[in-house]
Order: sequence, then C-alpha cells, then structure tokens
Amino acid sequence: MSDSQADKIYYITTPIYYVNDVPHIGHAYTTIAADVVARYQRLLGKEVFFLTGTDEHGLKIEKTATAKGLSAQELVDEVVERFIHLWKVLNISNDDFIRTSEERHHRAVHAFYNLVKEQGQIYLGHYEDWYCVPCETFWTEKQLDSGNCPECGRPAERIKEESYFFAMSAFQQRLLDYLKEHEDFVMPKSKLNEVLGFLREDLRDLSISRSTFDWGISVPDDERHVIYVWFDALINYLTAAGFPDDQERFERLWPADIHLIGKDILRFHAVYWPTFLFAAGLPLPKQVFAHGWWTVEGAKMSKSVGNVVDPEVVVEEFGVDAFRYFLLREVPFGGDGDFSQAAIKGRVNSELANDLGNLLSRTVSMVKKYRQSVIPAADVEGVHYREFAALHDEVNQDVVVAMDNLAFHKMLAAVWRLVEKCNRFIDEQAPWALAKDESRAQELDQVLYCVLESLRLLSLYLYPVMPEKSAQMAIQLGQPDPFETRGPEVFTWGQLVTGGEVVKGQSLFPRLE
Ligand code: MSP
Repeated sequence: MSDSQADKIYYITTPIYYVNDVPHIGHAYTTIAADVVARYQRLLGKEVFFLTGTDEHGLKIEKTATAKGLSAQELVDEVVERFIHLWKVLNISNDDFIRTSEERHHRAVHAFYNLVKEQGQIYLGHYEDWYCVPCETFWTEKQLDSGNCPECGRPAERIKEESYFFAMSAFQQRLLDYLKEHEDFVMPKSKLNEVLGFLREDLRDLSISRSTFDWGISVPDDERHVIYVWFDALINYLTAAGFPDDQERFERLWPADIHLIGKDILRFHAVYWPTFLFAAGLPLPKQVFAHGWWTVEGAKMSKSVGNVVDPEVVVEEFGVDAFRYFLLREVPFGGDGDFSQAAIKGRVNSELANDLGNLLSRTVSMVKKYRQSVIPAADVEGVHYREFAALHDEVNQDVVVAMDNLAFHKMLAAVWRLVEKCNRFIDEQAPWALAKDESRAQELDQVLYCVLESLRLLSLYLYPVMPEKSAQMAIQLGQPDPFETRGPEVFTWGQLVTGGEVVKGQSLFPRLE
C-alpha cells in the first residue's frame, strides 16, 4: 500500500438535492443510508468524510425567485435551511454541506472546465431539441410522448440555441472497457446492466451551457453562457474534496469511495460523470450505488396527489431511530419499497418494542433484582459463553459482508439472530428459577453475562442505524458510549465491562397502539 492509500479518507457522498422541492422521504432515504455507512466506517476506526448538500442553480430557481420578488441567491438561501434543518432532525453526521452557489464551487467548476477544455474536449456549437421547462430536461424527438415530456407529461418546447458541448461521444469505448474491468463500479449488478444498456446506443456529445438564463456559473471566457446542470452539479464531489485549491487534501479524499444515488440519476453518475473525469484526467470514484424508489401506501409520491411524505412528521409520530430502522429494514437497498403506516407500525411493535426493547428491559430488570444491579464477570470456559461466542462470530461475519455490500436489511436480519437467540435463551434458562437456588448462582451469572454481552454488541451493531437508542442501551448496560468506541476490534465478543452496575431506564420503544 502506498503512503497516499494508507491515509486515504473514506469518502462517501449523497446526491446534492434540488432546492426547488421540499425534502421528502426519498431525500431522507439516501441521506440516512449514507449516514449509516459513515457511522459504521467510523466505528471501525476509519477517518470518514461524509458529504451532502444542495443543487441550487437553474432556470426553475431563477423563475421561482422572480415570481417571489427575490434574487435567486436570496431564494436558495431561504430554502436550503429546510434541508439543513431536516438533517439535524434525522441525526445526519455529515462532515460538510456543499451548496453549488458557493464561491469554492464556482472556482472548482471553472478549474474543471478549463482542464477539459485544455484537452480539446469542449467546443461551441448549436443545440436544438425539445425541452421541458418544469423538468429542466432536454428530450430527443423519439423520447417525447406524443409531443409531451415523458417524465411529467407536460408539453415540450422546441428550442435552438448556441451552446458549448462536451465531446462525450469520444469516451464511449473507454467507458465500456472500464466497466468491463471494474465490475463493481456500478452496483447493484442489475444497474450495471442498465448502464451497459445505455451504452448500446451511441453516446451523443453533451450540451453543457445555456445562454437563455443567468442563474448559474458562467463559462470561463464567455460570460454570455452559464454552465448547465450536470457539468455544474457533479463537480460538487470534487469541490468538497478540496479541488482545485488544496491538492494535498484532494489526494487524501479523491477518488470518492462511494456515491450513493437514486436509480433515476444513474445515467448521470455512471455515464456522464466517468466521461467527464476521463476528459479531465482524474480518477473515477470507486463505486456508484443506485437505490430504488419509495412509493407511499402503494402509490407514486407526487405533489399533485398530495401524498408526499414529510420525514419530520414521521419522526414526530414514530421517533427518528424507528424511522431510520424502518427505511433500511423494509427493503433491500437497491430495490423499490413501499412506505405505509401499517408497515412501520408493525415493525416498531414487533421488532423494536417486542424483540429488542423487551430484551433490554427484562435483562436489566433481572440484573437489578438478582444481582443488585452488578454486572457479573464472565466464565470464559463456560458452555454458554462459548456457544454465544460462536454464534456471535457467525453474526459478525454476516454483518461485515452485508455492510460491504450495503445490504442493510441483511445486516439487520443478521443482528436479529442475536436478539432472537437471547430471548429464546432467557426463556429456556429461566433465570427466575435459577435465582431461587443458591447452588446455581454461577449458572445464573453466566446466563446474565451472555445476554448482557450480546446486548452490548447489539448496541454497537445498531449504532449506525439507531444512534440515539444505541446510546441509551449502552447507558442502561453500564457500558461506554458506542460513539466513543472506535477501531477494528470493536465487534469482539467478551469485552463487556463487568463489576459496574446496570441502570434501569425508560423503555426503548414503547408499544404503539
Ligand atoms: N440535483 C440532482 C442530483 C445531483 S447529484 C450531483 C437531483 N436532485 S433531486 O433532489 O431531484 O433528487 C435527489 C435524490 O432523491 C435522487 O437520488 C432521487 O433518486 C431521490 N429520490 C427522489 N424521490 C425518491 C423516491 N420517491 N424514493 C427514493 N428516492 C427518491 O436529482
């Protein structure tokens, strides 16, 4: 491993969200998933840089601002707060928040543009096509749906204008070769096939500037043009890593380890972005992972239907950790899912309240009652100890593999094997009976130890997904805060701090009626 790799920072990103929309469950989903990965990597002792932010330029913003009598900057300054606020509510541990209207981003886009231009990959031409104003998207004749935008169904307009182009077509073969050699560049596999599908058609050169509105980053050397959408937005991943000002930092961060995105923006991240980077002579991110979409109570979420789920409302009703847990447990990351009140309530009551919450509360109560709250020492030769250690090994391996593949639902399922084992074990061992027989005190100690140690590990495994509840678990178990626990050895069986006391606390997940 070279020096630069040895101190490589684990770099994870979310898409930067358009500020013309209120944040909803879809935005929350990507950001929570990224937060889980970031927290997990930190727990393993990695230095992590977790980036999220907002995409603030474009015609739509300019129009909305004008209609409201505000400058575009005033408008975005106002609406960006909604995202910043929501990430606080959702306990998002991002290390930076990038806004494309920031000065540092303007510098980065200019530097990037110039790099690509120096390679002769940008030229001035004319753009003529169908355009959907609300979606800010150009469409080819073929893509239109009887003259209407295939995405929103509204009529498209014919537009012709002078535009700078990026010679994307020149990189088609190189991208194909790259994808063949880097099979996990696009994940999940089904999405790689989709990308290969895009590449079966010839790539067109990409229009990357507009002269019909002003709210954006000007083209260097041609103030009449602003840089258009993706040639602005995607660069954010470089800006926040220190490009072009701080080369040393940039080398520790770039390439990003993973871009998490929704499936709708796969083409931009897995086709456009790599070709931009090829042209600029910069390394490609290690992975692009596209997740699925959420429907709500079986229907597509839409403003006009009025069924857009506000994450804050869900959090108020179910709590932030239950919401985070539900999103990751309900569907395999990469697949589509449905959000429903019944589904989240079901999981809260059965998995969180019954299985996990109850396990913690009955265990702490028993230690309090039978051991005056004192956490008993381990018997490392004991049969239960060894049996649990072996089960934990299996769980741990499953967790590691699942997290490497961002299979959050599998990770949680693996962790639940431990929860279920503990509940069964308590029922079988009947500590209440053991407690009545002084000659079986050792046995009782062992039973309690194994369950307490499992719960300690559970609080660590669950920390990335449910940071608040995990901290509450640790307090009740008389253990150090999971947040303070770092390093590759964190998930080792047998590290329970003994001799101290458990602290009976509130129920972790009260049952919902
Ligand atoms: N600004 C661009 C991204 C630029 S990244 C360089 C953008 N913004 S967005 O706000 O429209 O969408 C951001 C993300 O939200 C996308 O990844 C999209 O997939 C996700 N979601 C929007 N609706 C969603 C659901 N209903 N379900 C899950 N995710 C969804 O695109």
